[in-house]
Formats: sequence, C-alpha cells, structure tokens
Amino acid sequence: MKYKLAFIGYGVVAQGLTEILIEKEEILKEKYDLEFAVVAISDIKKGSVYDENGLDMKNILELVRQGKQIDKYPSGIKGMDSVQTIKETNADVIVEVTFTDVKTGEPALTHIKTALENKKHVISTNKGPVVKKAGELLQLAEKNGVSYGFEGVVLAGTPAINLAQYTLAGNTISGFKGILNGTTNYILTQMENGMSYDEALEKAQELGYAEADPTGDVEGLDALGKVVILCNVILGKKITWDQVERKGITNISIDDIKKAKQEGKRWKLIGKAEIKQDGSLFAQVLPERLPLTDPLAGVMDATNALTYHTDELGSITIVGPGAGKRETGFSLLIDLININANLTSKK
Ligand code: HSE
Repeated sequence: MKYKLAFIGYGVVAQGLTEILIEKEEILKEKYDLEFAVVAISDIKKGSVYDENGLDMKNILELVRQGKQIDKYPSGIKGMDSVQTIKETNADVIVEVTFTDVKTGEPALTHIKTALENKKHVISTNKGPVVKKAGELLQLAEKNGVSYGFEGVVLAGTPAINLAQYTLAGNTISGFKGILNGTTNYILTQMENGMSYDEALEKAQELGYAEADPTGDVEGLDALGKVVILCNVILGKKITWDQVERKGITNISIDDIKKAKQEGKRWKLIGKAEIKQDGSLFAQVLPERLPLTDPLAGVMDATNALTYHTDELGSITIVGPGAGKRETGFSLLIDLININANLTSKK
C-alpha cells in the first residue's frame, strides 16, 4: 500500500526517519509492499510546506543541513500551521514528533487527537500524550478505524512495546525492571571512568541523549514517564505521575560509585513496577546498587535495558539503544510497518 505522510515537527528524530526512508525505499517496497510519499511538513521554527503529490525529501534534508527554513523549498503551499496540516492536507499518516512536554502532553496531545478524529493514522515518539492519555487515545483510534503507534516512547527503536504486546503475547506480564534513561546511565558510567558529574552531563548533552532541559533526565522524571507508560500500556494498571516514588542521580558522588565498586556493586537508576498478590501496583524510580551479577549491572553508557517478568518464560530482558537520531527515527518505521501489516492482513 502507499502512504502519504505529514511530519508535525521536523527535528532530529524526524530527520532520522527521513534518512532511513530514503535509504530503505526499495527494500520497503519489495519486502513489505510499503510505498510512501511525504506530502507535508510543519515545524514551529523551520516553517511548513505542502505538496499533495509529495516532496523531494533529499532536497528538504539539504535545506535543513544548511540551516535554511523548510519554506525555502522551491514549490508547494507554504505557511500552514500544525493543525491545518493535519486537517487540510491529503496526508493519511501523521508523524507527530514535536517537543515533548511529559507533564501536559501538549501540543502533541491536540495534534494526535485531531489526527485520529480526522481518521488519520498517527505514529509518534512523543512521550507526553502516552503518559497523559494512552487509553483514551487508543480508544479514539479504534473508534475511527485507524492506528496510533508509539513504539519509540520507551527505549527508542529497541522494540520494548512490540516485544510485550506481540512477541510475548499469551504471557501474563506481572512487572518489569529497567534502565530506562540513557543520559543518567551514561553519566554514571563516565563517573565510574573518572569523569566529574558536570563533565559527564555536558558530554551527554553534546551527544544528544539528554532532553532539552536535562533536569528531567537527572531527576528521574524521564524514567518516571516511561514507568507510567509501561504500567498503563503493558501492565494494564492505571497510574499517574504523582503515584510513583522518584529519586534521580544528583546526590550520587564519585565516592559512592567507588565504594559500590569495592563491594562488587554498581549504581544504576532503576525504574520498576510489580503487580502485587492483591492486585495493587508497586512502582518506583530510584538509584540502586546492583550486584555485578545482575544482568542490568553490565549495561553501560547510554544503552537501555528492560526486563519483563512473565508467567511462562520467567524474566525476559531486552537491551539496546534508548536514544539517538536514527535509533529513535527507526521506531517510527516499526510503527509504519505495523500499520501496513494490519491493513494488508485485513484486505
Ligand atoms: N533523554 C532521554 C534519555 C531520551 O536520555 O534516555 C530518550 O527518551
């Protein structure tokens, strides 16, 4: 099938997906019968462009690389805002990759609702709307006969959500434990290697792992958002932001790290949740001193890991990148391929 895509937001992740789509265009067609055209882009800072017949994405990437506005593109309709782009273009898949505000979910929440109400599929790496309204948005998608894919909100393109929802289907998942934030894992690793906290944080920002405001990373808020998402979406337990105990890594000193090492242990920021015998939920984000024998203790730098506790298989751990341009861009391709697989199987 052929899809008409519109990007809402055109930052690093959108550019990562664009590069992958350009490079894999032939493979996608041959292997999955998946064709596409990007018909619109709307970015609050870079401007917007719409051409119902499709844009030349190599040209768009070149404009962005040169630091030029997207509306310098030589043809097409310019000046449409995000909601107009969602409602008034012929796009049938909306790629929502605007700045994430995990506390309010906006403006992404409005974008996603508008798209679903207009019977357009949504693929998104935006954590805010999933933290706030995952259930409601999934219901809205179902009601309108379209999909809402968000593989990238936890562990970027490392398929944490698909693993639980599809590959492990048939298991009862009673809980999880993971390293869900790359920035803090990178900082703890570098501090063990002798770097100061400030230097390590600066390096994590340079490498593009950290959020625009890294407080969200180091204080455990980003990991908390992911715990809330996994509880709601995978464990099926409704919890909100303020129901989870949280502590970040800002109080961990080089001495603490050295002391743990002498004792055969390593500090990790762990997000976890477990459904208890009585059906209630325990969830928290806290730094823990793990014994080096724990599989999560060996996960270093910006790498993430997540262990699911299942009834049939015991513990299943997935390890992989949790941030990065192509690594996160790729998660959107997983969502697009899933939409295509669902629609093709219904034909
Ligand atoms: N700032 C996040 C991290 C990016 O460091 O893991 C991915 O959510």
